[in-house]
This record gives sequence, C-alpha cells and structure tokens, in this order.
Amino acid sequence: MVRALTAVDGCHHVAWLATVDGRPVGIARYVRVTDDTADLAVEVVDEHHGRGLGSVLLEAVATLARANGVTRITATVHPANRASVRLMRRFGLVLHLCDGVLEGESALRLPEPARIDRAAVLDLAVRRAVGAGGPLPCGATASSVA
Ligand SMILES: CC(C)(COP(=O)(O)OP(=O)(O)OC[C@H]1O[C@@H](n2cnc3c(N)ncnc32)[C@H](O)[C@@H]1OP(=O)(O)O)[C@@H](O)C(=O)NCCC(=O)NCCS
Repeated sequence: MVRALTAVDGCHHVAWLATVDGRPVGIARYVRVTDDTADLAVEVVDEHHGRGLGSVLLEAVATLARANGVTRITATVHPANRASVRLMRRFGLVLHLCDGVLEGESALRLPEPARIDRAAVLDLAVRRAVGAGGPLPCGATASSVA
C-alpha cells in the first residue's frame, strides 16, 4: 500500500501535500485509470478541517490533471461525508448511490473563480520535476507554464 501511494510520477499519479509548520496536514492525489480519466482523492487531518485546505489541495491536483490531459474524473465518497460530496461536485462530479457509497464519473471541471494561483501550481510542478531530475508532467514544459 505504501509503495503504491508513494509511486508518484508527475503524470499518471500526482500528489500535492499541505504542511503547517513543517508537518503534513493534508494530501490530495489523482491516479490515472485510463488515458483520459483519473480517480481523485483528498484527505485533511481532523484538526485542520473546515479551513479550506481540502478545497485548495483538490484544485491543485485537478489543475495538474487537466494540464496533463485528464478530461474525466472518478471518485468514491461516503454518503454521510457532506464536505467531500460538496468538494467533488465542485469539480463536476455527478454522484450516484451504489452499494452504500456514492460513486461517479464525469467531465473534469475546474471551478471558477479559482481559489489558487493555477499558473503557480503548474510552474512549481515543472520546477520540482526538473529539480529532482524526474520526468516533466506529461505534456507540460517549463516554457508552457512560464
Ligand atoms: C473531505 C475533507 C478532505 C474536506 O477537507 P476540508 O479541508 O475540511 O475542506 P474545506 O474546508 O475545503 O471544505 C470543503 C467544502 O465542504 C464544506 N463543508 C465542510 N464541512 C462540512 C460539513 N460538515 N457539512 C457540509 N459541508 C461541509 C465547506 O463549507 C466547503 O464548501 P464551500 O467551499 O462551498 O463552502 C475532509 O473532511 C477529510 O479529510 N475527510 C476524510 C477523508 C475523506 O472523506 N476524503 C474524501 C474522499 S476522497
């Protein structure tokens, strides 16, 4: 499980971490399940709920997903989890109850107005990949996001 969750490559699997005073407090990720579709997930530690972290983390990975050619998203959410239902709907996800959980697959929509500086997120992702000697996020170049 740890191996799978840390196998980020900037293209098929991207994670964006939030820290407070150097401690991790939240993470969002997308994992590509087909060429154009990715599964979205987000988690924030309890004591930082309700401060907008889940929203901005998800917007960061959705921005990178879009830049990397993802046009559709999927997610699975517990029906009682009103915050995540609200979050996922903001990105265009239409959810249906199936075997006790809410599931959906829909076109990815980046919410307007943006709550983050999307160009800065893309720029940071490219710089991080270049600095680490890793692959550039697929389709993105430093000049394309400069
Ligand atoms: C879902 C989760 C990531 C939200 O994180 P968060 O940082 O508290 O989210 P935000 O503060 O950005 O709030 C997101 C939205 O939910 C709303 N919200 C928050 N708590 C709510 C509640 N109890 N009921 C209804 N809406 C709620 C907020 O008002 C906000 O909507 P708005 O921006 O339109 O006002 C967090 O609750 C969590 O980690 N849950 C456990 C993991 C999980 O369920 N992940 C989702 C499955 S992938």
